[in-house]
Amino acid sequence: MPDGIAYGGDWNPEQWPEETWEQDVALMREAGVNRVSVGIFSWSSLEPVEGVFDFGWFDRVMDLLAENGIGANLATPTASPPPWFSDPYPQALPVDADGRRLYHGSRQGFCPSSPIYREKALRVAEQVALRYRDHPALVLWHVHNEYGCHNARCYCDTSAAAFRDWLRSRYGTLDALNDAWGTAFWSQRYSDWAQILPPRATPSLPNPAQQLDFRRFSSDALIELYVAERDLLKRLTPDVPATTNLMAGAHWDMDCWAFAAETDVVSTDHYLIGARRERHIDLAFAADYARSLGGGRPWLLMEHSTSAVNWQPRNLAKTPGELRRNSLTHLARGADGIMFFQWRQSRSGAEKWHSAMLPHAGTDTKIWREVAALGAELAALADVAGSTVKADVALLLDHSSVWAQDHPAQPTAELDPVEEAKRWHAALWRAGVTCDLAHPEGDLTGYRLVVVPQLYLVSDAGAANLEEFARRGGTVVVGPYSGIVDEHDRVRLGGYPGAWRDLLGVSAEEFFPLDEPIRLASGATGSVWSEAARVTTAKVLDTYATGEPAWTRNEFGDGAAHYLTTLLDDAALAEVLATACREAGVCAVAASVAGVEVVRRSHPDGRSFLFAINHTTEDAAVTTPEGGTVTVAAGDAVVIPG
Ligand code: GLA
Repeated sequence: MPDGIAYGGDWNPEQWPEETWEQDVALMREAGVNRVSVGIFSWSSLEPVEGVFDFGWFDRVMDLLAENGIGANLATPTASPPPWFSDPYPQALPVDADGRRLYHGSRQGFCPSSPIYREKALRVAEQVALRYRDHPALVLWHVHNEYGCHNARCYCDTSAAAFRDWLRSRYGTLDALNDAWGTAFWSQRYSDWAQILPPRATPSLPNPAQQLDFRRFSSDALIELYVAERDLLKRLTPDVPATTNLMAGAHWDMDCWAFAAETDVVSTDHYLIGARRERHIDLAFAADYARSLGGGRPWLLMEHSTSAVNWQPRNLAKTPGELRRNSLTHLARGADGIMFFQWRQSRSGAEKWHSAMLPHAGTDTKIWREVAALGAELAALADVAGSTVKADVALLLDHSSVWAQDHPAQPTAELDPVEEAKRWHAALWRAGVTCDLAHPEGDLTGYRLVVVPQLYLVSDAGAANLEEFARRGGTVVVGPYSGIVDEHDRVRLGGYPGAWRDLLGVSAEEFFPLDEPIRLASGATGSVWSEAARVTTAKVLDTYATGEPAWTRNEFGDGAAHYLTTLLDDAALAEVLATACREAGVCAVAASVAGVEVVRRSHPDGRSFLFAINHTTEDAAVTTPEGGTVTVAAGDAVVIPG
């Protein structure tokens, strides 16, 4: 990425008369915008009729940007096929699990496995690349837009055939597939590949392994589309980096770990959910996730909002200062670019009530003033670019596990692995401890503490990875309903959690979901879940009234592993994690002050930036790691260079 912090948003000039473009660019300069994403939804303007291209207007857009020193994240417009696509090629439209074919008139109206879609998408992407490969405004390829946002799974016949191909290469033989899917159950044994379908609507519960593999296949199918476009772009512009905007932490249909590995720079979008309590912590989770997806490298926030969105039941406008705090949180947690959806608020279309950098009301507005002030502030923070965030703690998260647990037949419907991961992350946030997310099979060597809030499914390699981490001296905390099944959603036998009985020194024989919270011996509360476990080698640190273990600790190799058999209340969970942090030698970035977020970014040469962001309505005194005290006013943020 170029020097400094990228700042700007999606610019959709095709939605406006050309007379506004000069004004747009002048205002971009006024606001400190140095980067915009263009062409994302321009397919029907660039190729108004199949095979007929009109680049004249877009040449002027790109030239205007170059003349004004604004870089382009140049999109391939493939996220929204024009109406001319669906009419002659209805078989390329997506079909849902009930067999309903979806029509054009929105976006992402295509089947990810459709060869016709792929052909037309690659053709328009190639035309864009050929036209602009040497254009001075081109900085980054923005491939497609939010893959899988609306069409993550297609159940049509084309997808069924592609699913079978995917299964053939995964399993080789039908016997292996039948074994992995447990098809002896309910007489589902396949005798011919042609019998295998996507998990379309069924009279009763679908086969869990089939459903899980279909989620994997569907994610792979979209990643494959990205790779096809990326490879085409790389052939024409080998030196231009390529990315696509993920939805890390918000949408769980795409395997972000696998997807991020195919990008040159991780980019993601993030939107606050108004109904969430402490939504700034949810934001921190997404930012930590984005950083972790790139192995800690700086990443790009491709979209967030200046204020309200338009797709929640009640779309909350941001309070004064919230836009700045949100942006600085992303920056603190490793972003080298802060961008928005979108530059100019739409006048028509489904997103006209979505906020933008330049609102309907113009420049004499709170939003515009905050946008311009942020642009100036980010320009002054240019030296932050390229620095990284160090975390001693990793939280394990895997899409396969989330997907497997999504099957409706579970011991309780009340366990939610994503919410639980966020709750544990929030406990660390409140303690001022910076936390990465990690894939269960990822490299854990740099960490002191690894937490596993709820990892229902873990592969043999993932199970061994965590054991090895503890054996070499790491500290581990595992929450309930983790390590239960293998990669095919088959129960690991012999007592729960089958993957980690030795590591935890615990074996459980039966689950007892709770209808009411219960009191533990320590006074803490357990809810939703309990289990009848006995310790083999672990020590018991807290119990149910029955005397059965609720919190255990087991020495393992040079390290130790804690296990929780219930969902502890927030305060008790914080206490367990604080204990584990102390054991592991993990410290807060600065002594924690309630509601104040402190994160450090550092360069290899030792230059650093301490971000302190006050999310409360009271001024706060923050003690820096160097021993000084800084007052951060209510709702304010400071960046202290060191
Ligand atoms: C997503 C899309 C954008 C826009 C925003 C609205 O992030 O990428 O095109 O629809 O949502 O929040």
